[in-house]
Amino acid sequence: MRETEIKVHRDMASTRVWSYGDRVPGPTIEARSGRGLLIEWRNDLPAQHLLPIDHTLCGAGAEMADVRAVVHVHGAKVPPESDGYPEASYPPGRSVVCHYPNRQEAATLWYHDHAMGIERLNQYAGLFGAYLIRDEVEDALDLPSGSYEIPLVLCDRLFTAGGQLNYPTSGVAEAPWVSEVNGDALLVNGKLFPYLDVEPRRYRFRVVNASNSRFYSLSLSGGRSFQQIGTDQGLLPAPVSLTSVTLSPAERTDLTIDFSGAAGESIVLQSQAFQLMQFRVGGSARVKTAGLPVALRPIVKMLESEAVQTRTLTLNEYMDPKTRTMLMLLNASRWHDPVTERPALGTVEIWKFVNLTEDTHPIHLHLVRFQILDRQRFDADGYATMGNMKLIGDPVRPEPSEDGWKDTVQAHPGMITRIIVRFDGYVGRYVWHCHVLEHAANEMMRPFEVVSS
Ligand code: C2O
Ligand code: CU
Repeated sequence: MRETEIKVHRDMASTRVWSYGDRVPGPTIEARSGRGLLIEWRNDLPAQHLLPIDHTLCGAGAEMADVRAVVHVHGAKVPPESDGYPEASYPPGRSVVCHYPNRQEAATLWYHDHAMGIERLNQYAGLFGAYLIRDEVEDALDLPSGSYEIPLVLCDRLFTAGGQLNYPTSGVAEAPWVSEVNGDALLVNGKLFPYLDVEPRRYRFRVVNASNSRFYSLSLSGGRSFQQIGTDQGLLPAPVSLTSVTLSPAERTDLTIDFSGAAGESIVLQSQAFQLMQFRVGGSARVKTAGLPVALRPIVKMLESEAVQTRTLTLNEYMDPKTRTMLMLLNASRWHDPVTERPALGTVEIWKFVNLTEDTHPIHLHLVRFQILDRQRFDADGYATMGNMKLIGDPVRPEPSEDGWKDTVQAHPGMITRIIVRFDGYVGRYVWHCHVLEHAANEMMRPFEVVSS
C-alpha cells in the first residue's frame, strides 16, 4: 500500500491516490480453489492521511495513528487472524502475512481496506482490487476467458477543480462525518469514460461495486440484453437474461455480453443517467463465440427446517442525545456492546433483517455465503410506535439476479429480509455490517463469533 498518482482521464491532471501496488484498482488476484495463498500486505503509506478523519467516530480517536490499514478479502472464507479484523489495523512501516486457503467455489471476490473508523477514507483513497477464485466446474463450462474475460471494478468519486480526490464533509470541523457519499464521476477500473475495443463475440465481465455508498442500476444502451451467470459467491444454476441489474455497495455480478451481430456499433454501459463506459465493436472476431451453456452450477436450496436458530435483527437510525448526530445501528447495538450473535460452527441459522430506516442497507457477513429466502413488507410506523409487527401482503422471493450464493444482501426499508446461512469454516471473531461505508463507520457494524459446537 502506497501513495501514488494515477491518470483518471486524458484531460485531467494526475490524481494523488493510495493504491495496492501502483494502480487503482490494485492488481487482480487470481486464485485456484483449494490452493492456498500467502500474501504479505505491506503498509508503505505516508504518515499523513489524504482525507479528513473524524476523530469522534468509534475506533478513530485522536490517540490512534491517523494512517492505519488492514486488508479484508470480501467473500473469502479465511481463518479469523487473516480476515482483516477492523481493530487489527497497522501503521506505515509494518506488514502482515495473511493466509487465504481458498477452500471455496469459484467466485468474484474483492479485497479492500477495513481499518476501524477510517475504512471509508482508505477505500475512497483507492485501496481496493478484484480477487477471483477459479475451479474445475467453471473451467468445464468453457466461458469466455483470457482477453475475453474482464473485471469491471466500479467506483464513484468527487474531484476538486485541480483533479484531486474530494471527500465531502459535514461542515463541522471536529466531526466531518457524512452519512453517504455520491460522486459525480463514475469510474470503471479507475478511469473516467473509458472505452474498450471488443470483437463481435461474447465476453465475460466480472463486475464489482467498490463504491462507498452508490447503488448502480446497470444497463446497456438500446435496451440490449445481457446474461447474468453469477452472483457474489459464484455461478448461478443457469444464465439469466436481463436488461438491467442493481448492485449495492460490495455486491458483484458476473455477466456475459454477446457483441456478435453488433459489428461496427458502439454500446454504452450505463447506470441511470450516467454513462460508465463504451464498448466499440470491431468488424470481425478472431475466435468464434462458443454458445453459453444452458446449465452452469447446480445450487441446492437450503431448507428452513435445517436452521437451529432464527435471529431477528433490526436496522435502526438513532439520534445520539449527546452529540446530536445520527447513528446507524444494527439491532440497536454499538460496536463495543457485547457480542450477541454467536452461531455454532457448522450450524444453519436464519437471520431476519427488520429495516426500520428509510434506506436500503447492503448487509454483509464475513466468512460465510448465504441464500436469500424472501422479503416481507411490514407496517414500520406501527412497529415503531406500538411495537406490534403487522405484516403486509405476501413474502416476495429474491430477484433472479440474486437467487444464488450471496454474501451481501439488499435490506430494503419497510421490509423484513430473511437469509439462511451455514456457519462453515472456522471458529472465531468476525464482523457483519452495512456496506455503505459511511454507515459502517458510524456504528452500523457488529462483531459476531463462531463458537465450537
Ligand atoms: Cu467488504 Cu467487512 O467487508
Ligand atoms: Cu447502511
